[in-house]
Amino acid sequence: MDIRGKRVLVTGGAGFIGSNLVDELARGNRVIVIDNFSSGKLGNIRHLSDKGAIGIVTGDIRDKVLCRTVTRDVDVIYHLAVQCLRVSISDPEINHEVNATGTLNLLMAARENSVGRFVYVSSSEVYGTALRVPMDEQHPNEPTTVYGASKLAGEKYTLAYHRTYGMSTMVVIPFNTYGPREHFEGAQGEVIPKFVLRALNNEPPHIFGDGAQTRDFTYVSDTVRGIMMASECDMMIGQTVNIARGEEVSIRSIAEKIYRKLGKGHISPVMETARPGDVRRHFAGVEKAEKLFGFRAEVSIDDGLDRYIEWFKTRGYDFGALMKEDVVFNWEQK
Ligand SMILES: NC(=O)c1ccc[n+]([C@@H]2O[C@H](COP(=O)([O-])OP(=O)(O)OC[C@H]3O[C@@H](n4cnc5c(N)ncnc54)[C@H](O)[C@@H]3O)[C@@H](O)[C@H]2O)c1
Repeated sequence: MDIRGKRVLVTGGAGFIGSNLVDELARGNRVIVIDNFSSGKLGNIRHLSDKGAIGIVTGDIRDKVLCRTVTRDVDVIYHLAVQCLRVSISDPEINHEVNATGTLNLLMAARENSVGRFVYVSSSEVYGTALRVPMDEQHPNEPTTVYGASKLAGEKYTLAYHRTYGMSTMVVIPFNTYGPREHFEGAQGEVIPKFVLRALNNEPPHIFGDGAQTRDFTYVSDTVRGIMMASECDMMIGQTVNIARGEEVSIRSIAEKIYRKLGKGHISPVMETARPGDVRRHFAGVEKAEKLFGFRAEVSIDDGLDRYIEWFKTRGYDFGALMKEDVVFNWEQK
């Protein structure tokens, strides 16, 4: 299916990955974003809405009536709205309501309105920690957090809608993604932006656990390209696919790279207690994406970090003021 010229709905389109996806989709489609702006920012998509290139609906996917309204006359849904992992630790219920029930709401609405394609953006957290590597799509699902479990529920609903009702649904599983617009603040804050911000302020990185835990970091332009290529692939209907670089990197080595790149290689990390439910190892199997639709990540870790640091430095941010939002997170706090 060629997705150009289609009417497309992006849930969570004001968020980090969602807004980067909207930038690409808006080039050739009529795009509507639904977002409740709980973590998303209008500033991420204002450059498009101001010139009438996209429509924005401020609303919540927990609202079934609204889900029915926004899915009318839509050809493709990219479903990215989410409550994040760190929120799940202090507030498991909202994670369930948004990530699991919210997905079901959208599927019900999509079916009622005969939406042509439903692309569920899941998360590598559905696998839990690696039991074997590389982790292909057959890897067991043993999520360690309510977030991972709620994302898995969304996956299973999405595939059940294909098997039960014949809907054209699919599941795309990005691994850790980084790049422009990634969150550095509070509960949403991610590890790479936090390291960059702290390094720019001559502050040490805070590493939770021993730093030997690994992730398969993927630059956001690759993640977005992978999501779009998957969504156009007819063989993906009823299928699940990983989107990642296929390279394992430890958190400690990411900190070292960032601090070296910013000329702060002499600053030693502050070691904190491990985050509850933190996965030990993530290393994606990426063959299926290459075989089905020819996707391979293009941006190396070094290039991606250089691009991100450059983007961050040229934002005109007040790095000192931003540090105030970079709280060392207390997992029990709401
Ligand atoms: N960032 C990563 O490293 C990563 C990795 C794997 C998978 N993913 C997946 O990618 C998707 C996007 O993640 P992200 O990092 O861009 O997150 P994000 O927090 O930046 O974006 C989520 C968006 O959803 C919106 N939202 C939250 N609750 C909502 C609700 N009830 N109704 C409507 N909108 C709501 C938020 O305001 C935000 O704009 C998620 O589905 C996530 O599971 C992210």
